[in-house]
Amino acid sequence: MMEQDMQEILFTREQLSSRIKELAAQISEDYRGKAPVVIGILRGCFIFMADLVRELDIPQMTLDFMSVSSYGKGTVSSGLVNIKLDTSETITGRDVILVEDILDTGNTLSKLVEELGKRNPASLRLCVLLDKTERRVTPIQADYVCFQIPDGFVVGCGLDYNQQYRQLEYVGILKPEIYE
Ligand code: IMP
Ligand code: MG
Repeated sequence: MMEQDMQEILFTREQLSSRIKELAAQISEDYRGKAPVVIGILRGCFIFMADLVRELDIPQMTLDFMSVSSYGKGTVSSGLVNIKLDTSETITGRDVILVEDILDTGNTLSKLVEELGKRNPASLRLCVLLDKTERRVTPIQADYVCFQIPDGFVVGCGLDYNQQYRQLEYVGILKPEIYE
């Protein structure tokens, strides 16, 4: 039972799915008549992205993925972004929606946004499941946020600690003693 490793459960599966539905309705409206490419940042995005795209009403959208390395082991961002897997589609001229699990220091996403900007997409917006605003080091804001959360290391719904806990259906704060 992994629940014993949690200090607190922040969002249940039901809370996550109802908020994702709300956000999807807003995104669907914003992209009405367009053909955006929704790009998930692996691996953290996979559950959120799956939930989100199934609620989007954007018939012409396509889906793609990238993988970048930010964290090695542990809980502190390195500030460097290394594209380990690039998109299959070319994003030049496309309306891009980047989907990420969490915006923390902002170091990773700001670098990635800078890189993708060089490819001249028609537009580029960020969609994140979680936003730890108070932890921001590099100024960057997401256009779509499911939940703002306070500081604390969270896992579940795609988010990991040392590659574990991603499969949890809820989002929980990990007990500090697990990673200290
Ligand atoms: P940033 O560069 O600090 O914004 O880091 C973003 C990345 O760090 C996310 O994509 C996550 O993979 C990871 N991350 C940041 N905070 C957490 C957390 O609380 N739990 C799990 N992963 C996190
Ligand atoms: Mg990640």
